[in-house]
Amino acid sequence: MDFKAEIASLAAKAALECFPGAAVDEASLSGMLETPPDPAMGDFALPCFKLSKVLRKAPPQISDALAEKISSPLLSKVESVKGYLNFFVSPDMFARTVVEAALDQKDRYGSSGEGAGKTVVIDYSSINIAKRFHIGHLSTTMIGNALYNMYKFLGYHVVGVNHLGDWGTQFGKMIAAYKRWGDEETVKKGGVDEMVKLYVRFNAEAKENPSLEDEGRAWFKKIEDGDEEALRIFSWFKEVTLKDAERVYDMLGVKFDSYAGESFYNDKMQPVVDELREKGLLVEDAGAQIVKLDDYGMPPAIILRSDGATLYMTRDLAAVRYRHETYDFSKCLYVVAYQQDLHFKQLFKVCELLGWDWARGCEHVNFGMVSYEGQALSTREGHIVYLDELLTQAVEKAREIIEEKSPALENKDLIARQIGIGAVVFFTLFNGRIKDIDFSWERALNFDGETGPYVMYTHARLCSVLRKAGECDAQPDYSTLSDPEAQAVLRLIDSFPQQVALAVSKSEPSVVTRFGCELAKAVNKFYYERRILDDDMGARAARLALTKAARQTIATALRLIGLAAPEKM
Ligand code: ARG
Repeated sequence: MDFKAEIASLAAKAALECFPGAAVDEASLSGMLETPPDPAMGDFALPCFKLSKVLRKAPPQISDALAEKISSPLLSKVESVKGYLNFFVSPDMFARTVVEAALDQKDRYGSSGEGAGKTVVIDYSSINIAKRFHIGHLSTTMIGNALYNMYKFLGYHVVGVNHLGDWGTQFGKMIAAYKRWGDEETVKKGGVDEMVKLYVRFNAEAKENPSLEDEGRAWFKKIEDGDEEALRIFSWFKEVTLKDAERVYDMLGVKFDSYAGESFYNDKMQPVVDELREKGLLVEDAGAQIVKLDDYGMPPAIILRSDGATLYMTRDLAAVRYRHETYDFSKCLYVVAYQQDLHFKQLFKVCELLGWDWARGCEHVNFGMVSYEGQALSTREGHIVYLDELLTQAVEKAREIIEEKSPALENKDLIARQIGIGAVVFFTLFNGRIKDIDFSWERALNFDGETGPYVMYTHARLCSVLRKAGECDAQPDYSTLSDPEAQAVLRLIDSFPQQVALAVSKSEPSVVTRFGCELAKAVNKFYYERRILDDDMGARAARLALTKAARQTIATALRLIGLAAPEKM
């Protein structure tokens, strides 16, 4: 039940009775209703000063008059206080409505279904070939994955794209280095690390011996021209990188529907360049082809370099158009760090100038930088934490705790993985995305307080309560849920659909992460204060129903942000 709408309707009716002919209706009143910060002031409040103009009365006169007129089984009290009309929803009506809605809709509870018939493309993780997965990749990967889950939950058709960074002159250098110093066995064994080593050596030696640069360029040219050997080595490099990455994706439970990366667009850029030229947007500048953006306070978007080479921008233009043609998206999200704010502003502006109206559905979901103990991440200086190392340690820690606290647990390996990785993912998604993160081992591996393991543990605890209670056939007596602890849990469960909608509309998974935490805290308090297995069967049934609804809502919240919800821990 939509309490707000019901109350607005009651208030509108009362207003017309008290002030015949007044220009007030349900919709405008619904827009005025507020949620008081303190529940002691009611569940909803109507600030009547907002009505004094249309009604030409002082706020207290209005609130007094309306309070007299309104009564409904939905409300336990309506109170006029200094021009505010405070509505108190009847606690048992509220409890019944919320619990029944959650239990009826089961694991769909929280979804508005707003996405039916619509498609969203999400570009996330988008790693570069020959780079190892490190903590700097966690945000894009996990924010993207959470948005993927949430959009799916809302009924959208979702396409997850890993826009691989698999094009650029560096790959020519890598092949040159491999041909000089590398061998298949070592790269097979060492994986990405070995490729990085070759590349680092190439750059070091090229300082002494500049002719190496020509060699690198020549190999890149071969890739471009489709030379058989060059392509074979390059696609093997790609395979090795992806195999490494997939191990990490598996641990994190992340999947993609497409790995169409930069090189995929090699043969799809010419039509875009032509269209830019036809529409008179392309200008020559020192041999390069650019789109001027001074009028919008931005540096130009470079489309072709003076040697004719395409750029990151050119590829993104081809990519967005391809996505539109292939998926007919209503939204296309780019989960990429804020360092690329300008790039995406330019990209979207060029789309606009091209008259690609559909590109209005594009959005850059940016996020803050990750540093490590106060310093910028740097592979070269070894100031970096690799993801497999972090996840492995997290799982080990979880495993130790399980051995200590519940040695008899079944599936210990699986549960340890779920808890350890859950801790890292939850940590990544806890703060607003735009905030910079200073990574610390201690915080990422913390299992107490506002953490993934705490929320997961609360879920497992509720499962255990429900298991022990067995079935209870009594009619729930919802009046036994009017205590503040139960009401706090109910209010949170009731707000879940709005929280999910908010997380999606702001592309902000942290809303759901924090919600999970708040609900876990409220439930633990409820459990601490109230006897669930009450001797009174009506109370017992009501408290068990609330426990079920809370358990289910926590599980859904965890699932949305990409965590498992084990039933035993
Ligand atoms: N590979 C790029 C990088 O690491 C991110 C790509 C993001 N997606 C895009 N369509 N530009 O910076």
